[in-house]
Amino acid sequence: MRILLFTGKGGVGKSTVAAGTAALAAQAGHRTLVLSTDAAHSLADAFGAPVGPEPTEVAERLYVQQVDAQLRFQQSWAEIQGYLLSVLDVAGLDPVAAEELTIIPGAEEVLALLELRLHALSEEWDVIVVDCAPTAETLRLLALPEALGWYMQRVFPVERRVVRALKPVLSRAAGVPMPEDSVFDAVERLHRELDEVRELLSGPGSSVRLVLTPETVVLAEARRSYTTLSLFGYRVDGVVANRVFPTEGADDWRAGWVMAQDDVLTQVTQSFAGLPVWRSEYRAAEPVGVDALTELATDLYGEDDPLAPPRGDGPFRITRNSRGAVLRLALPLVSRTEVDLARNGDELVVTVGSYRRLLTLPSGLTRYRVAGARVEQGQLQVRFEEKSS
Ligand SMILES: Nc1ncnc2c1ncn2[C@@H]1O[C@H](COP(=O)(O)OP(=O)(O)O)[C@@H](O)[C@H]1O
Ligand SMILES: [Mg+2]
Repeated sequence: MRILLFTGKGGVGKSTVAAGTAALAAQAGHRTLVLSTDAAHSLADAFGAPVGPEPTEVAERLYVQQVDAQLRFQQSWAEIQGYLLSVLDVAGLDPVAAEELTIIPGAEEVLALLELRLHALSEEWDVIVVDCAPTAETLRLLALPEALGWYMQRVFPVERRVVRALKPVLSRAAGVPMPEDSVFDAVERLHRELDEVRELLSGPGSSVRLVLTPETVVLAEARRSYTTLSLFGYRVDGVVANRVFPTEGADDWRAGWVMAQDDVLTQVTQSFAGLPVWRSEYRAAEPVGVDALTELATDLYGEDDPLAPPRGDGPFRITRNSRGAVLRLALPLVSRTEVDLARNGDELVVTVGSYRRLLTLPSGLTRYRVAGARVEQGQLQVRFEEKSS
């Protein structure tokens, strides 16, 4: 199964390009689902057809779904939230404020991605296209299970046993309700499922495409997304430059735009060196409906196969050598000074700007010490060596 994600700043054409790519895949004979997790559902607008929270058929082999994030949220978070609310209630918090406190920003989006896991398990699809929310924020949030991995494995089960044993005493003494076993179950299930989604999305059949329009601010954000996505282990396998003004027959006003866009497009090529940059013209009308979308995608990819499996090893790789091992993590577009590295037991903490990833080291590496690290050609390399005795 092939999973394609489209992300980019608001309004650049994510939904349009995602829908077009899906239409092209269906036309080529693949059972295709395109789903949006973006709360600003625009897939229905792109297809010019009503689309519900369940997969709706819009053409042969082509299904569209706008995930009801609110519902998903209630299903997976309700129990945990219920417990948190009872605690906050004891703490004397106004229920409305308490409700707000138990909502994590961006959580709805992430939980909407749980839908993807169900679809992958169903084996009903050859291709799943995801129309993501703007920027890489959501995919970053998916790193949460990994960051909590240590806690979930070591602390959580102990805590659960302790709570079970002390519950009668503590509830009475502190007056704070202790979580029921079912709350622990809900936390564990959510943790496991989110981890599965992350594995699916960082796996060899998945890749992210950055959609942008040739404008300086839009490019700046796409560059940041490229770095962040790589940091969290997602492969970016292409860039879509959308709404490029056609050169022919341009009047003065348009000629000005063409020149400005040309400038940015040169920077786009430099920024994403090694990745294909597919271009899509600014059309005379909004591309709406399966036919218009298919046409746009056909022009966009040209001779390229839009479903080609991503090349290379992905952003994260470990190679063994005689002295130990080298860990490599792609960090495109950053310099040495922007990267901070720390070792914390069997975790490697990589910080780039305001983003931090807690990488759990494979068990084979934990007995080594970090012998050196460098950032070279958009890649972080960390050398692990035997501890000298
Ligand atoms: N290449 C294009 N030419 C003309 N209009 C486009 C093109 N790509 C997208 N649009 C239009 O731009 C608007 C925003 O596109 P949309 O795909 O909804 O963006 P996003 O999902 O990134 O917010 C829509 O009205 C869409 O029809
Ligand atoms: Mg959209």
